[in-house]
Amino acid sequence: MTKTTNTSRLPDSQVHLLDHPLVQHKLTLMRKKDASTNSFRRLLNELSMLMAYEVTRDMATQDVEIETPLEKMTAKMIDGKKLVLVSILRAGTGILDGMLSVVPGARVGHIGLYRDPKTLQAVEYYFKMPQEMTERDVIIVDPMLATGNSAVAAIARIKTLKPKSIKFVCLLTCPEGIATMKAAHPDVPIYTAAIDRQLNDHGYILPGLGDAGDRIFGTQ
Ligand code: URA
Repeated sequence: MTKTTNTSRLPDSQVHLLDHPLVQHKLTLMRKKDASTNSFRRLLNELSMLMAYEVTRDMATQDVEIETPLEKMTAKMIDGKKLVLVSILRAGTGILDGMLSVVPGARVGHIGLYRDPKTLQAVEYYFKMPQEMTERDVIIVDPMLATGNSAVAAIARIKTLKPKSIKFVCLLTCPEGIATMKAAHPDVPIYTAAIDRQLNDHGYILPGLGDAGDRIFGTQ
């Protein structure tokens, strides 16, 4: 049996739905069950670049003096090194690669969590972050915000390092995942390309796109 969560009472100011037609088009192609591993991975890469564009919209810039072929000018640049992209292993890698091609100066952290199949709770097995996290803005990436347990555990762990800010980026989520995140971390904005209908009894998003890790790595 599947349950639905009433979304009407969920405060949504912290949920950013990336509804750009290019994002939606690519997501639809990825959802199709007959999309090959190759095209799934390529589409995820392209989609991640588009999502990076949205999630970094408020990134601080600094003025720098440069010279064009014609004259000197003051122009804006971001300090990519202040940004940390944190991938929740293993499926987060798919988003990480695309985002890094847009923000190549970003530092990278990894957190390994597996989902206990019985409790669906997240268990940490790996954690490696850059130094000086208190000076950094963190973007955590994981394609599926399903039960929300992995995201909540990852954010709680990263919060112990007191970064300047944390955002969470996924491809797909559902009312249950949003509710879990909002209960645990109401201060962390969620960026997603879609909010699907519901979770099934195995913690998969419906209609969803299946197991994101298996589809990225062809391990099904
Ligand atoms: N993880 C996935 O890969 N897919 C889902 O639908 C839920 C969690």
